[in-house]
Amino acid sequence: MKVAVFGSGTMGSGIAQVFATYGHNVIMIDIDKKILENALNNIRKSLNKLYEKKAIKESPETIISRINIGDDPGYSSGADFIIEAIVEKEELKIELFKKLDKLHDKNVIFATNTSSISITKLASATSRPDKFVGMHFFNPVPLMKLVEVVRGERTSDETVNYVYDLAKSLEKIPVKVQDYPGFVANRILMPLINEAILSLSEGVATAEDIDQVAKYGLNHPMGPLELADLIGLDVCLDIMNVLYKDLGDPKYAPAPLLKRMVAAGKLGRKTGEGFYKYNK
Ligand code: CAA
Repeated sequence: MKVAVFGSGTMGSGIAQVFATYGHNVIMIDIDKKILENALNNIRKSLNKLYEKKAIKESPETIISRINIGDDPGYSSGADFIIEAIVEKEELKIELFKKLDKLHDKNVIFATNTSSISITKLASATSRPDKFVGMHFFNPVPLMKLVEVVRGERTSDETVNYVYDLAKSLEKIPVKVQDYPGFVANRILMPLINEAILSLSEGVATAEDIDQVAKYGLNHPMGPLELADLIGLDVCLDIMNVLYKDLGDPKYAPAPLLKRMVAAGKLGRKTGEGFYKYNK
């Protein structure tokens, strides 16, 4: 089928890669051709690695040949399935979905990869709330198995089951969850990261030692601070703010150090500095 992926950042390009790997024709759409070229390069690097490890059967070039790029929503015309992974700004997502609602046949399902915005709210911007669903992938998308399939207030059973089966066909492990702040994964993960940041700022241990504790005492693949750097500290803060505001419990208050680092532009790997320093 033809899949339109909106957004070509870490998540959008990962999603495009996975759909193309499983034989779908993908149109990846973003506002700028340069960002798209960069995303294609990252996809190529990732596919090369997976090919070397025999984790994919087809050659990277064959898979990439199924991905087209475009810098206007009009390029999604004729798509059978839409998935949105643009920046986590509610107004921008609503504006995009309003446009797409006019462009696409009423039968086309709209999915969003949002990690923190209400599916019900986004669905309400369209005339197809029954065909609107959350399809939440995890970073790095080609490696992480989980997909949260998020049911909005008016999402139909048919739509939920369709996206559940679609995730399975991509060899992911889908779980059905309700539209609730942070869904399940981020409701569990973000307080862990926040608590690690509080421990750091209270001088309980160094960043390295906090991460060692999680890795070697709890068997997590990455420590919470290096994981926060991978996710992006701005994303972590946005999600903590959603939990804090929408669940109304002070236990979700974002750590002051997290707010300070985001204000300083120390967003993790993508800016070269977070809890650790990186070569850009
Ligand atoms: N494509 C292909 N290969 C990749 C890759 C990608 N996108 N990303 C990493 N790899 C490769 C690495 O380059 C490495 O290759 P080499 O062995 O050749 O060096 C290989 O995968 C394994 O990496 P590591 O050696 O670092 O080993 P690892 O076993 O730790 O695996 C990991 C990496 C899968 C990222 C693992 O560390 C992990 O599971 N970390 C936790 C990730 C996580 O929790 N993600 C969820 C974040 S939350 C989220 O995404 C949701 C949200 O809404 C915020």
